[in-house]
Amino acid sequence: MEERTMFERLNTPEEIFSYKLGAALTMEKDTLAMLGDLQDSARRPELKQLLAEHAEETRQQITVIEQCFALLGEEVDDSPCPVTKALAAEAKATLKKTDDSLVDAVILAGALETEHHEQAVYETLLIHARARGAAPVVALLQTNLVTEQSAGSKVKALAERIATTGVAVPVEGMSGGVKAGIAAGVAATVGVAAAAAAKVGERKAEGEAVAAAADSLERERTAGTAPVAGDAGAVRAEEFNDDALEERIVESESRAQAQSDRQ
Ligand SMILES: [Fe+2]
Repeated sequence: MEERTMFERLNTPEEIFSYKLGAALTMEKDTLAMLGDLQDSARRPELKQLLAEHAEETRQQITVIEQCFALLGEEVDDSPCPVTKALAAEAKATLKKTDDSLVDAVILAGALETEHHEQAVYETLLIHARARGAAPVVALLQTNLVTEQSAGSKVKALAERIATTGVAVPVEGMSGGVKAGIAAGVAATVGVAAAAAAKVGERKAEGEAVAAAADSLERERTAGTAPVAGDAGAVRAEEFNDDALEERIVESESRAQAQSDRQ
């Protein structure tokens, strides 16, 4: 085939561009197949939905790349793209050895890695399309980049959510180890909640102590035994134990004495 022999060697920046545009086309076709496989393996309905939506977007991205070839007046060429095949193979192999209840984390990892690769591919194509002044091609490739960025953000957000709220989902025939893992996750969550409640209790007690100290100071102030505090409630409780108060009064009296001695 003529196109193939043309790309045996890449002798101009334009040839590199077309070759990489063809690799992007292969990348999107591989990604579409990968998204289908991942969708079948996903446990959470929202993850299945996210993958299905991006599969639809990927079909449109394939059309966009074909339109780019048409605008350049070139035959559609699909150059090799081993990276997406490798990412899909890695995800598949990892899924194989992962407990059914935990597969969503592996799927999201594979999806996020793929989205980042795709973004890099479009960023590079855009650099060269802009440099060539191929404005219509730039506009088309830009839509593909934005789609990848948006998909990547959604995948990342879901990955973060499941990582923090618990990766495992209950499945039939779940192994004892994973059940224990879920239980440990729940226990950890309960532990965090208990620690937070204790902290709130601690703060409340601290607040009460400050309020009590402020009350006591107010009582002493009105009885004429304590200096006036500008904002008693904001002052730390430990400053108002009896000894400290006594020391301050003594200090204040000796300063007043020293001042009157100087006059
Ligand atoms: Fe994508």
